[in-house]
Amino acid sequence: MLDKNQLEKYNQEHLYEYEKLMSNNEKDALENKVDELDLEGIQKLYHDLYVNRKSIDDVSSVSEVKYEVKSQLSDEDKHTYEQKGYEAIRNGEFAVLLMAGGQGTRLGYKGPKGSFEIEGVSLFELQARQLINLKNQTGHTINWYIMTSDINHNETIEYFKKHQYFDYDPEHVHFFKQANIVALGEDGKLVLNRDGHIMETPNGNGGVFKSLKEAGYLDKMEKDHVKYIFLNNIDNVLVKVLDPLFAGYTVSNNKDVTSKTIQPKHGESVGRLVNIDSKDTVLEYSELDPEVANDFDNANIGIHAFKLAYIKSAVDRELPYHLAIKKLKQLDEDFGVVELPTLKFELFYFDIFKYGTSFVTLQVPREEEFSPLKNKVGKDSVETATEDLKRMSLI
Ligand code: UD1
Repeated sequence: MLDKNQLEKYNQEHLYEYEKLMSNNEKDALENKVDELDLEGIQKLYHDLYVNRKSIDDVSSVSEVKYEVKSQLSDEDKHTYEQKGYEAIRNGEFAVLLMAGGQGTRLGYKGPKGSFEIEGVSLFELQARQLINLKNQTGHTINWYIMTSDINHNETIEYFKKHQYFDYDPEHVHFFKQANIVALGEDGKLVLNRDGHIMETPNGNGGVFKSLKEAGYLDKMEKDHVKYIFLNNIDNVLVKVLDPLFAGYTVSNNKDVTSKTIQPKHGESVGRLVNIDSKDTVLEYSELDPEVANDFDNANIGIHAFKLAYIKSAVDRELPYHLAIKKLKQLDEDFGVVELPTLKFELFYFDIFKYGTSFVTLQVPREEEFSPLKNKVGKDSVETATEDLKRMSLI
């Protein structure tokens, strides 16, 4: 049996009552899970992020990042960066890291977001094609690290197999899973999912570097003499995966963090890359007053390159959780299925920036490099993504 006193101490006594309604197998599973959990830490998260939540109001110490604008570079500089980029790629200095563990709920699509097809071409394929081009141009096959989550790991691998890895070399595609964290009700209590297990959800994209390390891939990169990790999101249909100009820009500047941004639109739901106390960081749109957001000129589009040595030095440092409240299906006290607002805890990858010491940013034209697929209809939707892909002759 669960320890009632222990549960009461951490506001989880309902689990004791739930257990009475369970079969022996279910009881065992519940007890094992509860043993694994840090109940005290979970209550602390609940209090810090929900009960005592505060928004980012004081932005007095926040300033614009230093950045260069691609269209203002001379043709000669662009050419030099490109050549340097090709050379570094040919020498195996870059690994590519794709974050594809999210749920795509806003899109209303059940499969892995990367398997979403536009006119028969999936988001994964759009990115694989670019790696194949780079291989053809440089003779080097780049290692492609893809983060999935419990929710979509198997389906993602199946999708790659079904499509013969889009003709990329399977030995150079490495899948790894991000971790989960428990979700809570608004009363701070652990929740049971529809299978009667304690509900857990993916821990946000900020777990990416730790999960990469735990899968042994940071060590592999080092053995492979990789110097930089190029990172991107799954859902930007115009993403230039490791474009040589940006690769060359990264190598020439040789900073801990190189970011690519665009000029945000007024009120746009994108993070803003800013500088706080001499460090670049992202203020996330969900946590920022829209009026304040409009003061900044660089939108985060989830495209960066990191020095491997910096990531290795920072990967074990602590990152803060952020709170998201989503309606999720779960069991009520009579074990009926209900949909209730649920607290999800997420790490953000850019919180690792604070452990870096040097930063550089290149702002690029939105129409060439950013068209995210977030929603079913309207803004950033299937329709806009399709138009943009056609305009750029990518489908
Ligand atoms: C993200 C950025 C935001 C930026 C916007 C641009 C974060 C926290 N925010 O917002 O600053 O302006 O993209 O489009 O990154 N993912 C996982 N695991 C998770 C959650 C997400 O792998 O648990 C992946 C997604 O598959 C996606 C990327 O991370 O590739 C971004 O996640 P998403 O939830 O789409 O973030 P946005 O809210 O769009």
